[in-house]
Amino acid sequence: MPVIELQQIEKSYGPVQALKGLSLTVPRGCLYGLLGPNGAGKTTTIRILATLLEPDAGSVKVAGLDALREPRAVRCELGYVAQEVAIDKILTGREMLQLQGDLYHLRPAERDARIADLIDRLGMESWLDRRCGTYSGGMRRRLDLASGLLHKPQLLVLDEPTVGLDIESRSVIWELLRELRLQGTTVLLSSHYLEEVEALADRMAIIDDGRVIAEGTPDQLKQRLGGDRVTLRVREFSNEVEAEQVRQLLEPVDGVRQVVVNRAQGFSLNLVVDGEQVLSRLREQLDAAQLPVFALAQSRPSLDDVYLQATGRTLMDAELAVVGQRDAKQERKSSMR
Ligand SMILES: Nc1ncnc2c1ncn2[C@@H]1O[C@H](COP(=O)(O)OP(=O)(O)O)[C@@H](O)[C@H]1O
Ligand SMILES: [Mg+2]
Repeated sequence: MPVIELQQIEKSYGPVQALKGLSLTVPRGCLYGLLGPNGAGKTTTIRILATLLEPDAGSVKVAGLDALREPRAVRCELGYVAQEVAIDKILTGREMLQLQGDLYHLRPAERDARIADLIDRLGMESWLDRRCGTYSGGMRRRLDLASGLLHKPQLLVLDEPTVGLDIESRSVIWELLRELRLQGTTVLLSSHYLEEVEALADRMAIIDDGRVIAEGTPDQLKQRLGGDRVTLRVREFSNEVEAEQVRQLLEPVDGVRQVVVNRAQGFSLNLVVDGEQVLSRLREQLDAAQLPVFALAQSRPSLDDVYLQATGRTLMDAELAVVGQRDAKQERKSSMR
């Protein structure tokens, strides 16, 4: 049974249609990544499943419960770490966690044992008794994470947990998320960092403009793009005619999907192939034709290729477009640079 099931969610803020029929299924026990540029609808989706926002249409099931009918029961099952953290400045981190534990009605002994465990796992011991007002972004984020985990939820939901954090905090958080998953907690995180989703997620959805545009394991998404990419150089092709001849030689080889002459790089050949066995066949062909292979590099398609395929633009372009909406003038300046 899936832990999260969103069906055909619609949500508008006045004239802005943030979600346009978004559906999402998160299986139990996985680390699920929600990847998309700023403005895609990640926060809106997460706030809806955390019962902090009601959709205009669609159904929301979390941990087998109807989140629209039983929001309180859902909140007991999930821990939520928001994108923007608002924490008290006067209390210390420990006092914040104790308060949070009391809100969840944990018994004091259990509460304090749980706090001690999280302090240890998140490396918070040296600063936990300082006032929160003095914390860095990374410390605040870790405290927030501890606070979302106090009641041992079966589902942890994090909205862009590592944006703007120092490298150490980021790796502590990644480590903890992996550990939680191993222990059976389902983790859903949103991110606009490809590398974060790539490093952590077992499954992922790419969301763009209020909809899921691709879903699967990162490998599945890449495979749907076609095979591995191989960049091949046979000597240096001195001209296009020579490159074209070799292209015609390689194109019929079994397992080769496409051969493109790359004019930008000394007439090298870029091949899209299915699987690794193709490479030995390619070598045979080239040996027979007495064309020694000068260089051969194999690379898998990246998630950015997936995004490009689905939307016709790169994630970087999408980010720039959002910046542009916010401040059209600024955008014009930067593209002129
Ligand atoms: N409170 C709000 N009022 C008006 N528009 C909003 C509000 N929150 C989000 N939006 C708009 O909804 C869209 C989706 O936003 P959001 O869910 O925050 O995306 P993400 O988290 O992926 O950046 C964006 O166009 C955003 O500007
Ligand atoms: Mg957001």
